[in-house]
Amino acid sequence: MWWRRTLSRSCRCCLGCGRSGAKGIWSLHTRPVCSAPALPAGRITALQALDVWKRHFEEKGVTEPEHSSQYIIAHLLGAKTIESVDQQSLTQFLSKEKTEQVWQLCTRRLSRMPVQYVIEEWDFRDLTLKLRPPVFIPRPETEELVELVLTDLQRHPGAAETRRQTCLEVGCGSGAVSLSLLKSLPQLEAFALDRSQDAVDLSRENALRLGLQDRLKVYHMDVIKDAERMLGLFSSISALVSNPPYLFSEDMATLEPEILRFEDHAALDGGEDGLNVIRQILALAPDFLSDRGRVYLEVDPRHPPLVRRWTEENVEGLRYAETRHDASGRPRFCILQKEESHKDPDQD
Ligand SMILES: C[S@@+](CC[C@H](N)C(=O)[O-])C[C@H]1O[C@@H](n2cnc3c(N)ncnc32)[C@H](O)[C@@H]1O
Repeated sequence: MWWRRTLSRSCRCCLGCGRSGAKGIWSLHTRPVCSAPALPAGRITALQALDVWKRHFEEKGVTEPEHSSQYIIAHLLGAKTIESVDQQSLTQFLSKEKTEQVWQLCTRRLSRMPVQYVIEEWDFRDLTLKLRPPVFIPRPETEELVELVLTDLQRHPGAAETRRQTCLEVGCGSGAVSLSLLKSLPQLEAFALDRSQDAVDLSRENALRLGLQDRLKVYHMDVIKDAERMLGLFSSISALVSNPPYLFSEDMATLEPEILRFEDHAALDGGEDGLNVIRQILALAPDFLSDRGRVYLEVDPRHPPLVRRWTEENVEGLRYAETRHDASGRPRFCILQKEESHKDPDQD
């Protein structure tokens, strides 16, 4: 089985701060909208269309020109990758209708729309998710966040009587994180929330498509503005997970303009120090978590010491447990744990 993959695994913090040479498939140059090559007068094969568009993307400075044309044309031929298209489909002539579809989708890519939005879907771990702007496109490093949570939940499978485990995700976007956890853990129930109605709708749609809707409740809520409401809804949560907006506001200016044009600004900008949403999650965590329940956060590499210090100084009952590194060795994940509440027996 071929999976769609970004070959240059750049991450969001690098898109923001410009520390990475390699750019991901959603990372695009700033250019005015370019015109498409004319539709061919005669018939054309998929291989020829691949070549026309690869060269056109190159000429116009569209990043990852080869992969862009490959993913779009593979998608139109009913496959995920060009490698999984059979040779005959590549070498026979495309129908007029198919050729027009190739031109239409590749022209969208020419306007710098990320491939994931052009083909309206992408793979995240073992799921294929529906995607549309402006809902945040899940990044590869978030698969590592899911892996961390999964490993922990599999190691500590809930109270013996029920084996019930619950997860709360703040900022669910397309639903990638919660749905991945639900797919791998049949005993898990998940709650997810997002301030964006588009994200809430897309998460629900993806849950339905994947048949996971019975174990996922999605709320249209803002973790900062709706804290009171949240306190009435969530308790005894095993894992509080978030890939929040965590870019430093000053880095937003250095972002590729097309990311800002197509993706929700509020999914990226974490405020002056990138911690606006993170601080709120940490402050609320002890109220939501079960004893020894954990918080799992994806953060900027500059964040772990700041998160540790802020928690130690401001949050009672939450202990900074550890920092985890991503595949390229950068400190990207913070894990915190709720301390066990010791009930005073005289109080009962
Ligand atoms: C970086 S995206 C992550 C989306 C998804 N979890 C993923 O990894 O693909 C952050 C998400 O948090 C949401 N968000 C931002 N601020 C929020 C807030 N104050 N309350 C709830 N959700 C928020 C955004 O709408 C966005 O969907």
